[in-house]
Amino acid sequence: MAKVHLIAAARPNFMKIAPLYHAIAATDWCQPVLIHTGQHYDANMSDAFFQDLKMPKPDFHLNVGSGSHAEQTGGVMIAYEKIVNQHRPDWVVVVGDVNSTAACTLVGAKLWIPVAHLEAGLRSGDMRMPEEVNRVVTDRLANLLWTPSIDGNENLKLEGVDASKIDLVGNIMIDSFEMMRHQIEADATVGNLGLGAGEFAVVTMHRPSNVDNSDILNEIIDQIINVSHKCQLVFPVHPRTRQKLTDFDLLERLEADENVMVIEPQGYIQFMNLVTQSKLVITDSGGIQEETTYLNIPCLTLRENTERPITITQGTNQLIQPSVLEAEVNKVLAGEWKKGQCPELWDGATAQRVVESLHKRL
Ligand code: UD1
Repeated sequence: MAKVHLIAAARPNFMKIAPLYHAIAATDWCQPVLIHTGQHYDANMSDAFFQDLKMPKPDFHLNVGSGSHAEQTGGVMIAYEKIVNQHRPDWVVVVGDVNSTAACTLVGAKLWIPVAHLEAGLRSGDMRMPEEVNRVVTDRLANLLWTPSIDGNENLKLEGVDASKIDLVGNIMIDSFEMMRHQIEADATVGNLGLGAGEFAVVTMHRPSNVDNSDILNEIIDQIINVSHKCQLVFPVHPRTRQKLTDFDLLERLEADENVMVIEPQGYIQFMNLVTQSKLVITDSGGIQEETTYLNIPCLTLRENTERPITITQGTNQLIQPSVLEAEVNKVLAGEWKKGQCPELWDGATAQRVVESLHKRL
C-alpha cells in the first residue's frame, strides 16, 4: 500500500486537508499519514478544526510553534526531515501557501520524494507577501501541481512549468464546505450571539500588511467603527490581530462599540454558520474570498492585490482600500453589489479528482 504524507500546519490548511484525507483513506491502494507541523497550536486555531472536520489525531506532530519566518520554516524542515528519513512516504502532499508548505516541499525535493501541491498556480504578483514567496518556491519544486482554477494553469505555464505536471482539479475548499454543510446549517452560532440571518456582517483580518502597522490598523478600525453604525458586525479576532490591537491601544475602543461583537477565533462549522447567514464579509483572508464567491455573498477584501482574481472576475469579491470601506459597504446595503457566478470545478468533487490524479502517478 502506498503511503502519502499530508502536511497540515495552519488553520486554512486543516480545511483543505480534511476532504483529501477522507478520500484517500477510502481507497484500497493508498494510506494517508497526517503530519501536523504545529504552526498553529491554540485549541481554537487547530484542535477545533480537527474535531469539526472529523480528522483523527495526527500521526506525527512536529510542535514547531511560532517564530520568525526563518525560525518557523527552518524548524519545520529540521523536524520533518527526521520523520521522512524514518518513514519515507511515496508522495508528500502540501496544501496552500503557509511557511510549512514551502518547508516540507524543500525537504521532499532534497530527499528525492515527489511532492504534490494542492492549490498550485495562484499568484498575487506581490513578493512582499510571505505567502507569495511560499507559493513560488513550492510550485517551482513540486512534481505535481493541482490547480483550483484556470488562471492557476496560465500562471504556471508562463513560468515555464511543463503542462504534464499540471492538473486542474478545482477548489478543495468547496469540498470542505459541502462535506460539512449539514452541520454548518444546523449550527447555532448566529442564534447564540442573539443575531438573525441577514442582520450582520462578518469581519476577519490578520495580514501583516493590515495589522502590523499602527497607522494602517488605526485607519481600518476607524472605518470599521463607522460601518458598525449602519450594520452590526461580528469580528472573530485572529491571535496576531489581537496582539497588535492590544499593542496599539485599539482593542478597548473596539470592544466598547456595542455594534461590534469582538469574539474569539471560531471553529470551521461555527465560522461558516456565521458567514452563510451574513449579508456581507469584510476580510483580508484568501480562503474567505473563495467561500463568499461560492455562496454569492458580497466580499470586501482589504488588500491591494489577490492571488485569487477569479473571485473578482467571476465572483462577488472586490479589492478595496481602507479609506473607502464605509462607502463600499453602503453600496452593498443599498443592493448595488454585483452578482457573482461560481467558477468551473468548484463543485465539491475536487478531492476525488486529486485521488484520481495521484492514482495515475503511483
Ligand atoms: C499564517 C499564514 C497565513 C494564513 C494564516 C491563517 C504564513 C506565512 N502565514 O499566518 O498565510 O493566512 O496563518 O491563520 O505561513 N498564534 C497564536 N496561536 C496559534 C497560532 C499563532 O497565538 O495557534 C500567534 C503567533 O504567536 C504569532 C501570530 O499568531 O504571534 C501569527 O501566527 P503565524 O502562524 O506565524 O502566522 P499567521 O499570521 O497566522
